[in-house]
Amino acid sequence: MVTSSPRYTHINRQFIMRVAQNELLRRSSIKDTIKATKNKIHQVAGAFVQSEMHYSEWLGSLKNATQTRNMVEFTKICQTIMRFHASTRERLPFLSGFYKQIFSSLPPIQSILDIACGFNPLAIPWMGLPTGIHYLAIDIFQDLVDFLSNYFALLPIQGHSESFDVIESIPTHPVDLAFILKTIPCLEQVDKLAGNRILDHLQAKYILISYPVRSLGGRSKGMQENYQIQFQKLIAGRGYQVKKYEYPTELVYLISTEYL
Ligand SMILES: C[S@@+](CC[C@H](N)C(=O)[O-])C[C@H]1O[C@@H](n2cnc3c(N)ncnc32)[C@H](O)[C@@H]1O
Repeated sequence: MVTSSPRYTHINRQFIMRVAQNELLRRSSIKDTIKATKNKIHQVAGAFVQSEMHYSEWLGSLKNATQTRNMVEFTKICQTIMRFHASTRERLPFLSGFYKQIFSSLPPIQSILDIACGFNPLAIPWMGLPTGIHYLAIDIFQDLVDFLSNYFALLPIQGHSESFDVIESIPTHPVDLAFILKTIPCLEQVDKLAGNRILDHLQAKYILISYPVRSLGGRSKGMQENYQIQFQKLIAGRGYQVKKYEYPTELVYLISTEYL
């Protein structure tokens, strides 16, 4: 019933089942459970993506730009695509400075895990990554990760993407850097311990965690202060070394676990 709705057909089934089971415990009727399940899935995933994605058209344009070696055109198309994901889109006005600042604070990186990636992998041309780097991107939208898989094939990197409910589990192979961008608040709407569990299991030398400082509607409502407190609770007792960066729509923490 939930999965037959066109908005949710591409969402990871295991994730939908988890949300539905949580909601069922709190509701007395199936009708209310379905409604609450749809609302929750909208809040944590559906609200970020446009209802119409133009995956085959975008892929055709990206292939064309690659074949004609037109990197200016390639990056322009990436920018256009990033506008179709509300969370990734917010980073566009400061994208170049964002990744310059982050990567200039890090040693050379050979592997990245992008958790709940949205369209962030479309920002790879701004990251200045070395050829052959391993990049694994995961999210709950099957159509989005299928598109990313075709996109990765056009880049000089070892890129992979998978549909993954990161509340259930995360990839635990060792990586140099993990991105968890503006995602922990979404996950914790479904499972309050999700952020803690990810940090317990992640095998990353560096972790970039960020929080939104405005809602999708544009209101800030003390979000920055709240998320600063939440972040401090999340990392309490973990012995991490942390650097903080502030961007107009994003509060960012670069964590080093390596010196331990
Ligand atoms: C706020 S967006 C952040 C997107 C991206 N990290 C960025 O900052 O550009 C949250 C993302 O988390 C994904 N998501 C939500 N719940 C998830 C789950 N349980 N497992 C994996 N991804 C999830 C959504 O589909 C969405 O793309």
